Amino acid sequence: MGDLNYSDKVMDHFTHPRNVGEIPDASGIGNVGNPVCGDVMRMYIKVENDVIVDAKFKTFGCGAAISTSSMVTEMVKGKRIDEALKISNKAVAEALGGLPAIKLHCSVLAEQALRAALADYYRKIGKDPSSFEPKVHSEEEHGH
Ligand code: FES
Repeated sequence: MGDLNYSDKVMDHFTHPRNVGEIPDASGIGNVGNPVCGDVMRMYIKVENDVIVDAKFKTFGCGAAISTSSMVTEMVKGKRIDEALKISNKAVAEALGGLPAIKLHCSVLAEQALRAALADYYRKIGKDPSSFEPKVHSEEEHGH
């Protein structure tokens, strides 16, 4: 991966990503993309009694996007929704031992994918997700 300095944890989650796949009966699905680099991420969550009992993802993107989506799915499992909403992209990057500055936007994608999946779930149960739902760039709206 060029001469960028990736931590061992980033490399570990990139080469052995956790929770890749889909959840057929997901409670919520989040689709996000970065219009600049073109990377896309889809996250599936299963919620029971306000707790995220399972999370899976599919990422078509760079190594850091794969590592951060892998890490965020690990971090949210077993968390209540209010706890999951406190997970920032910084927390994900820190859990991976840090990311090179030019790769921080990849962790933003992971945070947004989680929030988009939670927003999808909120809508299904009749709750308003507007306080945390990621804002989608107008240029990419037609693509989703
Ligand atoms: Fe775009 Fe990593 S380069 S998500």
